[in-house]
Amino acid sequence: MAVNLKGRSFLTLMDFSAEEIRYLIELAKDLKKKRQQGITGKSLAGKSVLLIFEKTSTRTRSSFEIGAVEEGAHVTFIGPGSSQFGKKESVCDSAKVFGRFYHGIEYRGYAQKTVEDLAKYSGVPVWNGLTDDDHPTQILSDIMTIEENLRKPLSEVKVVFCGDIRNNMCYAWMYGAAKLGFKFAAYGPKSLAPSQAVLDRVYPVAKASGAVIEWGDDEKLLEGADVIYTDIWSSMGEEDLIPERVKLLSPFKITPELMSKTGNPNALFLHCLPAFHNFDTGLAKEQYELGYDIREVSEEVFSGPNSVVFDEAENRLHTIKAVMVATLGE
Ligand code: CP
Ligand code: NVA
Repeated sequence: MAVNLKGRSFLTLMDFSAEEIRYLIELAKDLKKKRQQGITGKSLAGKSVLLIFEKTSTRTRSSFEIGAVEEGAHVTFIGPGSSQFGKKESVCDSAKVFGRFYHGIEYRGYAQKTVEDLAKYSGVPVWNGLTDDDHPTQILSDIMTIEENLRKPLSEVKVVFCGDIRNNMCYAWMYGAAKLGFKFAAYGPKSLAPSQAVLDRVYPVAKASGAVIEWGDDEKLLEGADVIYTDIWSSMGEEDLIPERVKLLSPFKITPELMSKTGNPNALFLHCLPAFHNFDTGLAKEQYELGYDIREVSEEVFSGPNSVVFDEAENRLHTIKAVMVATLGE
């Protein structure tokens, strides 16, 4: 049966079959090719799309905005504190209002329940642009980037996520691996263990797909990796935890030495971005002066030949456009 995602929300990869996820990635590859030839569609013509950002963003916001406009939609942006949403008006009431105005809604913020409630009460497709627990559009882009850069089937790929292994990115990877059936290891301190609820959710799905999902602080997990992935050590909203995180996560910083422990000189380096890899950002500089080195990756790796982080960033646009076209497009 042909895949049809019309009218569906995109809240987590756990709601989608492997075939549906594959469809979105192939659609993104096709949209990328077309854009490179100067061809954009009209599949969202006449549609109004709302972007709600309770947390900041560069790539996700740009991808939703450009992706929607290139397909002919009108876009409204609501930033933190610029509407009644969630403060003077409940999520449920706001969702009911938005559903009367908009044909599709993107949400970036805190609780996964908020994005779920937006979908439940608005009655239109809702897309998760990152919550405390998940970042599903990022995984589409990451997998697309891996496939563009590695000459082997995804089922034979091993991805190792290093660092804060109980954050939204690590969980999103676990969901992606469980659904699509590849090897995934989360390498980080035991004190930041992934939540048992997440593990209980992914293990049965992984068993069915043939995925191998492991976690722990044993550097043996790095062996045989095709992809080394990391993320910032203190996610948005957790900046108070920087001192503690620097102490816990410095041993998991991505350096040439860590890369060499994969035993694979061709292992790719990926990062969702934004990244701390030098002192060109205000926060990294400020924290360094306070005695905290928050760089999760060395400049050598970040800017080295195996790094595909900017291909990955570009693919956010094509994959997010694919999600909107598939769920809302004509
Ligand atoms: N990777 C990612 O979500 O980037 P932004 O925070 O810039 O959207
Ligand atoms: N874990 C990070 C991801 C940023 C794209 C955060 O939530 O801040």
